Amino acid sequence: MALTPKEIEAKTEQLKAFIAEHKDVDGPLMPIMQEAQNLFGYLSLDTQELIADSLGIPVTDVYGVATFYAQFSLKPKGDNVVSVCTGTACYVKGAQAVLDKVVEILGIAPGETTDDGKFTIQETRCLGCCGLAPVMTINETVYGRLTPADIKGILEKYQ
Ligand code: FES
Repeated sequence: MALTPKEIEAKTEQLKAFIAEHKDVDGPLMPIMQEAQNLFGYLSLDTQELIADSLGIPVTDVYGVATFYAQFSLKPKGDNVVSVCTGTACYVKGAQAVLDKVVEILGIAPGETTDDGKFTIQETRCLGCCGLAPVMTINETVYGRLTPADIKGILEKYQ
């Protein structure tokens, strides 16, 4: 869901306060980026610049970290984040076919968001519930022992 200018302003102030509290601790970059990701749902160029300027480091350093770790996103996510686990246990039990079905139905690749902003697909590492493999989550809800045939009905609940 897109933030209003007022919400962006309020969250920017929250982020500035967080930076002020954490900039002098050891290794401040990751916790500050994590807080920014939590507040905004992604790291815009403005946010990356704010972090870089506050810490006195080049924005390319922030960008480098943001693109290296899957937990950070450079674009806003959709209202519903579909995360398909491609960890080993899930992969062995057919996660790729599940992921392919999600991609086919939503018409976007992993890491992308649908034009209407409803869905984002992402691949994740082990979610810690391998007994349910193959697993995907949509927002906070876990779906396990999936087959490609299950996917359409599940996604329809979120349309
Ligand atoms: S590998 Fe998918 S939940 Fe562990």
